[in-house]
Amino acid sequence: MKMDNSLLEDVNTQINREFYAAYLYFAMATYFAEINMEGFAKLTKNHAKEELEHAKKLYDYLILRDEKVSLSRIEAPDTNWTNPIDAINAALDHEKFVTENIHRIYKNSKEKCDCALEVFMQWFVAEQVEEEHLFQSMLDKMNYVQECSCEIVNIDRELRIQNEYVE
Ligand code: FEO
Repeated sequence: MKMDNSLLEDVNTQINREFYAAYLYFAMATYFAEINMEGFAKLTKNHAKEELEHAKKLYDYLILRDEKVSLSRIEAPDTNWTNPIDAINAALDHEKFVTENIHRIYKNSKEKCDCALEVFMQWFVAEQVEEEHLFQSMLDKMNYVQECSCEIVNIDRELRIQNEYVE
């Protein structure tokens, strides 16, 4: 079954958003590396790779449906973070934005009676719960200890250990 044009456009736009997310997290990894927060740098670099996987998943799906993949220009991320909390806050904001768009595609697929796309998008709906939780829980911890920068260094050490073997 051919996809409705507006749904096809939605999925192609989401491919661009996932590539943008990868670009954003690579930029964050650079920021954290520059301020010698190795754990946060590893986490965000690993997360950038996950975003590439999300883009690939959507890309492969359009190929499977015999639909046209349209790759568009990827915007440069805004990288004026003033401290680690600011950067992780930006990550959470971005994930909330992605969640809204994933939900919109899911609802549109329901309205247009594209059952296959509806089922496919369920994976992304569930994934976004994890993505928001990852950055929300980190931000909560960072806000909790924000008066004490040595505790942020401890969080960084934990992240470095947790992300050491993820490549
Ligand atoms: Fe692919 Fe973090 O959303």
